[in-house]
Amino acid sequence: MINNKMLDALNDQINAEFWSAFLYLSMSADFESKGFEGFAHWFRVQYKEESEHALKIFDYINDRGGTVRLHAIKEVTQTWPTPLAAFEDVLTHELKVTSLIHNLMDIAVQEKDYATQNFLRWYIDEQVEEEKNATAIIEKLKRVGDGGGLVYIDKELKKR
Ligand SMILES: [Fe+2]
Ligand SMILES: [Fe+2]
Repeated sequence: MINNKMLDALNDQINAEFWSAFLYLSMSADFESKGFEGFAHWFRVQYKEESEHALKIFDYINDRGGTVRLHAIKEVTQTWPTPLAAFEDVLTHELKVTSLIHNLMDIAVQEKDYATQNFLRWYIDEQVEEEKNATAIIEKLKRVGDGGGLVYIDKELKKR
């Protein structure tokens, strides 16, 4: 069985992961409408990843005999002036998610919930990856500016 404090915190994280999914899907819609197919594709793949992050917690709560509670998803931004602006939001957001995951780990340690500590290690590693990806794309976007290089990066991201 999982204790209530840990359960509430994990249920909150399901909401945060779905909010992330929604944010990426919104980015996908915006860049699709602007003709950036590669960016739109990248964000759509990321949307799926975030949904999986949420569902992994969903399954874990069930495995531990807890009850999943879904809450309303807050509205997300709908448009970004440039791909760089979107990826800067991505990085800010992922840094926030990293701190949420670290908070969950703090609770798991306080509550001596060893199973949840193990479960969360995957998310800690995943956040290293997320921050790295966002940072790398931001650096590329800064290098190319607004010119034809953007078309090249758009093509690159389509391969994801
Ligand atoms: Fe996530
Ligand atoms: Fe990822």
